[in-house]
Amino acid sequence: MEAMDTKLFFGDAAAFATPMLAVFAVDLADGKHADPRPVLLSSDPAIAAAAQTLLASGEFKAALGEVALLHAPSALKSDRLLLIGLGNARDFSLDRVRKGAGTAVRAAKSRSVREMAIAFPDPDTPTDARIAKLSAPLTARALVEGAAIAEVDYDTYRSDRKDSEVNSLALIAPESDRTSIGNIQRGFDDGRIVAAAQNFTRSLVNEPGNVLTPTVLGARAKAMCDQAGLKCEVHSSSKLQELKMEAFWAVAKGSAEPPALIVMTYEPETAPAAGAPVIGLVGKGITFDTGGISIKPADGMEKMKYDMAGAAAMIGAMHAIARLKPAVKVVAVVCSAENMPDGRACKPGDIVTAMSGTTIEIVNTDAEGRLVLADGLYYAKTLGCTHLIDAATLTGACVVALGVLNAGLFSNDEAACAKFQSALEVSGEKYWRLPSTDDYRDHIESEIADIMNTGKNRYGGAISAAMFLKEFAGDTPWVHLDIAGCAWNEQAKPWIAYGPSGIAVRSIVEWVRSYSA
Ligand code: BES
Ligand code: MN
Ligand code: ZN
Repeated sequence: MEAMDTKLFFGDAAAFATPMLAVFAVDLADGKHADPRPVLLSSDPAIAAAAQTLLASGEFKAALGEVALLHAPSALKSDRLLLIGLGNARDFSLDRVRKGAGTAVRAAKSRSVREMAIAFPDPDTPTDARIAKLSAPLTARALVEGAAIAEVDYDTYRSDRKDSEVNSLALIAPESDRTSIGNIQRGFDDGRIVAAAQNFTRSLVNEPGNVLTPTVLGARAKAMCDQAGLKCEVHSSSKLQELKMEAFWAVAKGSAEPPALIVMTYEPETAPAAGAPVIGLVGKGITFDTGGISIKPADGMEKMKYDMAGAAAMIGAMHAIARLKPAVKVVAVVCSAENMPDGRACKPGDIVTAMSGTTIEIVNTDAEGRLVLADGLYYAKTLGCTHLIDAATLTGACVVALGVLNAGLFSNDEAACAKFQSALEVSGEKYWRLPSTDDYRDHIESEIADIMNTGKNRYGGAISAAMFLKEFAGDTPWVHLDIAGCAWNEQAKPWIAYGPSGIAVRSIVEWVRSYSA
């Protein structure tokens, strides 16, 4: 699963023999109209000397994602010196370091350089109050994550696939940090585990609907669980009937492809105390969303192959959890189906009874995600989950509201939500909280059933969807992530390829760990 061999070293970066050494730089410019003042985040005189002429030229401004390459730098053991811009000094953060490591790896890839090293940013050079002091273990973690995520290109289906992998990466921490080698190594290991999980998620999201059916998603989850030592059950139509999951079944029944109800369980090594939390991860796994009878327009429908990104995030998160071994039980429930129009498909106006007993008027068959999640969330509670989180490419309205930089965050519980927001400080992912207070309940009030699966009008569509899910979370602390706008990168960035982003894996894993005893 991990293509790039990544190792941690302590010592002098200038003395490290490698085809390419990457060093970070920030811009010390103060104020909007000030000229750029690029400076290296390095205290090494040899590196400073090698970069001096270039920095003085004004060609390299240290903007985020900017790179400059020097060949045969004198006094360095490396064949090339790659400068990586991290943007303005005041924005320096773990996430900038993550993006910088990614930029370095992608710069090496496009130049067919297969081995490289990245020097840790020096937190003290230059001395500038605007430059945040980052913890070395979290820096190690951000570097590995950024590098591993950047290494992957989803060109598996291209005949002209370029074999330009970076095979080997060395991260070079300052010698003075060797005293905290244990903690730095742990941060490094965490980063490798979480990034590998995120890349696994991305590989699932990348698959087209004809390849990754619900059955295949179930098989991939099972294979991962067998390898990682997790319990995994994959059920289908008969189990949905048995559990009376009419909401889930309403979506599934219009497809020739059978649904998959995937249940993955992680048990901590020492049995948790009675009353200890049990975390439930619930994912929307629509392997293709045509809209069903309320069919979508043809334009852009091909994107709906990534409507299983929430499910893929949960499967990836379980992979990381199996390896990180937090002291908390975790159960993941993935509800996977294909939303198709058909002679047997559910119709607008149909009324179904969810597993919880709640009756639902299906006003729009394209609001299918909330239907499958309704039964998934309720089922997770019956399995003993005391805290719930779901991830779903749930609404176009969330994309309209927040664009593609922030995903939607909803919660019925301040403590669970606060824990999630703390997790974001480590994951670097961006979410913006939207309301799901009870005064929005009338959005989903139906005239003839308990609730309906759309809002009364288009206003606040992401909130209507969240209110629907909240019915099924009930009193259980619950966090809902609407990742519709963030699951697929329409635009490649210097630090990440076009395609599946793997959003939510890192944050969910960190949130789960926050419940570890
Ligand atoms: N899968 C879509 C939401 C979506 C939109 C995901 C754009 C990714 C990008 C979801 O099932 C859907 O169709 N939602 C409808 C709900 C509406 C019918 C109430 C929507 O957002 O239009
Ligand atoms: Mn839909
Ligand atoms: Zn959908």
